[in-house]
Amino acid sequence: MRLERAGTDQRGVSLGPAAEADAPVLANLLELYIHDLSAAFPDITLGPDGRFGYRHLPLYWSEPGRRFPFLIRAGAQVAGFALVTRGVLAPEQPDEFDVAEFFVMRRHRRSGVGRDVAMLLWQQLPGRWTVRVSEGNAGALPFWAAVTAEFTGGTALETIRPGTPHPWRVFTFASRA
Ligand SMILES: CC(C)(COP(=O)(O)OP(=O)(O)OC[C@H]1O[C@@H](n2cnc3c(N)ncnc32)[C@H](O)[C@@H]1OP(=O)(O)O)[C@@H](O)C(=O)NCCC(=O)NCCS
Repeated sequence: MRLERAGTDQRGVSLGPAAEADAPVLANLLELYIHDLSAAFPDITLGPDGRFGYRHLPLYWSEPGRRFPFLIRAGAQVAGFALVTRGVLAPEQPDEFDVAEFFVMRRHRRSGVGRDVAMLLWQQLPGRWTVRVSEGNAGALPFWAAVTAEFTGGTALETIRPGTPHPWRVFTFASRA
């Protein structure tokens, strides 16, 4: 499956597939994202070059059908990204989509960008979805609880799985085209 077009909401927030030429942009945004996550995951450490690094990034263009990279824009400005995998985190569920990574730049937070992008994402990729969020991620937990409840009308299945240093909250649901 290849996505060729961007989805745009009424506020001009768009979610479009990231091309391989966008890899350096994503690599830079991933640094900001991982720095944010390091507040909840003390095991995340900076490399000697002052970067966190994200070794899976090239796979997003070498494994089409299993990995889907997206850039978020607010108007013309890059405002974040979403990385989606299919059958990677849970190989026993080869068709299930996972929100692997999801990031909105601080400047654009709490204005509905993340919510709008999540809706665009689930509309663009119909199927079974799983969202895993650490209970230590104080902002992301209420965010995913709110947007999955809105998208599904409150029918998303919510479970808790063991995790380190905090348990994972897992939301499972289906989206239709
Ligand atoms: C989590 C994140 C994606 C949310 O993006 P966002 O654009 O700010 O979210 P929205 O503005 O669409 O929020 C929608 C709703 O989610 C909830 N929410 C979002 N951020 C929240 C926070 N920090 N605290 C409490 N509730 C929050 C609220 O109910 C909000 O609605 P409201 O603003 O009307 O109250 C963003 O904070 C982020 O990128 N964080 C760092 C990276 C990260 O943790 N990613 C998720 C990994 S699982």
